[in-house]
Amino acid sequence: MTEKTRREFLKTGALVGLGAAAGDLIPEKAWASGRSERESRARSGAGRPTVVASQNGLAAVERAMDLLLAGEDTLEAVVSGVNIVEADPEDMSVGYGGLPNAEGVVQLDSSAMHGPTRGAGAVGALEGFKHPSRVALAVMRYTDHVFLVGAGARQFALEMGFKEENLLTEKARARWIKWRATLSEQDDYLTPEQSHEGVWDLGLEDSWDGARRYGTINCCAVNGAGDISGVTTTSGLSFKVPGRVGDSPIIGAGLYVDDDVGAAGSTGRGEAVIKSCGSMLVVELMRGGMSPKDASLEALRRIVHFTVEKRLLNDDGRPNFNVNFYAVNKSGDHGGAAIWSGRQYSVADADGVRHEDSAYLFERRG
Ligand code: GLY
Repeated sequence: MTEKTRREFLKTGALVGLGAAAGDLIPEKAWASGRSERESRARSGAGRPTVVASQNGLAAVERAMDLLLAGEDTLEAVVSGVNIVEADPEDMSVGYGGLPNAEGVVQLDSSAMHGPTRGAGAVGALEGFKHPSRVALAVMRYTDHVFLVGAGARQFALEMGFKEENLLTEKARARWIKWRATLSEQDDYLTPEQSHEGVWDLGLEDSWDGARRYGTINCCAVNGAGDISGVTTTSGLSFKVPGRVGDSPIIGAGLYVDDDVGAAGSTGRGEAVIKSCGSMLVVELMRGGMSPKDASLEALRRIVHFTVEKRLLNDDGRPNFNVNFYAVNKSGDHGGAAIWSGRQYSVADADGVRHEDSAYLFERRG
């Protein structure tokens, strides 16, 4: 959909003919059987269709909005949006090309929530499938459970017909080998300096700073009828302990949707979000009347208050990590906030597809 067409629709409420092809990223055609009912609800709604996502989600919010405007279900829209990022090897925090765990294995986490049906599905430490969000969706649709992990999640994905593939790109493998070699001088893995070879010969980019990252994409949407859904998907903390599961697949932590109120999701240090039930807290604060931005800031204050471990504090006694929340309410108001300044979030609404600055608690120096 062109920007002009999108704006016309969002301002007039008119449904225009769209070729919003989701292609093979929407394999679940059976799920679309209730589409005409959803389309008429979307048309009749007086709300404001809005999609929010993390900073890396610009393409995701654009696709999700195109699908919303074509009458697609909110969850199908956001999952199709994040599928773009899951398939992108250049985003090394999500899906294919994600950085592996400490043993060089890519383990993915994802959760999905569908507001109108109060549905939820999640997978943790899933190996070998580039769209864990689709597997999470299948858990929601085709089981009586919410959360499958590890070998069981893999078996379920195979049974459901998802294609197993190697997710470790050469770029990600090179970074893992360098990380492993620089970890300790007491082990047997050598850096080029230690082996007198001089340079890395792994195709490593010079620009890589060697830092571990949390990454992740979250995407939440409300349509014109006020239906709300969300999804979060990630390869998690790079070089993590095998089996480590972050906040992303945990309902209430990395994602929460309440169709009466709104939706929220997170990126950043998952351990901090899990301990504060972060996304549920944001939604509960919105239920109490806070705006998405203020609710996100308040949840971040809770995380700061809970952070007492010396190893997690800087010299000023503030967290030495970042957490970001993204939130949208039933009316289409949206907000994003981070502990530290300098972050942005992605939005698609009547004003177009864009990045907006996230609110923050602390100004990052230097
Ligand atoms: N927030 C992503 C993670 O901690 O895995």
